Amino acid sequence: MQTLTSIETLRHQIQAWRHNGQRIAFVPTMGNLHDGHLNLVHTAKQNADKVVVSIFVNPTQFGPHEDFARYPRTESADSLRLSECATDVLFLPTVETLYPQTSQTQVSVPEVANRLCGLHRPGHFDGVALVVCKLLNMVQPDILYLGEKDFQQLTVIRRMVNDLNIPTQVASVATVREADGLAMSSRNTYLSQEHRALAPVLYQTLIETREALLKNANPSLLLTQRIQHLEQLGFVVDYLSLCRQQDLHEASAEDTDLVLLVAARLGSTRLIDNIRFER
Ligand code: PAJ
Repeated sequence: MQTLTSIETLRHQIQAWRHNGQRIAFVPTMGNLHDGHLNLVHTAKQNADKVVVSIFVNPTQFGPHEDFARYPRTESADSLRLSECATDVLFLPTVETLYPQTSQTQVSVPEVANRLCGLHRPGHFDGVALVVCKLLNMVQPDILYLGEKDFQQLTVIRRMVNDLNIPTQVASVATVREADGLAMSSRNTYLSQEHRALAPVLYQTLIETREALLKNANPSLLLTQRIQHLEQLGFVVDYLSLCRQQDLHEASAEDTDLVLLVAARLGSTRLIDNIRFER
């Protein structure tokens, strides 16, 4: 595995691979890697000749009162894990490389971004779209791998790639979970012991709600009851919503491809999860 920090050396390597007709996959991350990230890398390697992984804690996607400063940075452990799991290039740009002071351009996908998490984290998806757009222009991969764990992010990026005619295929990979069902996340390390024990209830709630919806429960009544139940247990719920998979608009009775999404806080830790289903 090569570790590259400059855009020039990255482009040079990519050009050499392209010259040899090799298919390139890209997995962007913010590091503190867990098995969810590594599963993306393994899947990427099965479908491409070369895999580029980036680690960059992107300041533009954090709000002023969010956890940018304390976001876990575990570069040496991450680098070791990636070198053992088929990564060809680890791209580690600095903030100055990605955001020179002269940079002004913004990327917004308002219709998909300004709902759900977008309402609670203003500007978050603009930051995600900007950094992913820039990274795609640097790596120019044939295929981009993203996790379904961040379903709204996946929807925003799919739409951006489509709208901007970026010549990259977007592939998604199912959420990897702990044995008790909690979706793996770098932020799980913030949870106290007590909150960690409570956290799997979020996924159980998604499963139970899906079952009830498939038995024709009234969605708005059911969602209100589930939110109240989570709040009684100690969660502060930002939303629990039933949406259309395609554009995350609120689902109507005619929609068949659905996703149930939740965001809730335990103490200062914000957890998100979702499940897709058809009816
Ligand atoms: P990060 O949270 O590090 O996640 C990197 C990728 O791993 C994303 O595509 C995310 O959906 C996926 N992922 C995280 N947890 C997962 C899990 N439990 N199972 C499967 N996939 C999982 O998402 C970001 O970074 C950033 O917003 C980024 C896209 C890199 C832009 O800065």
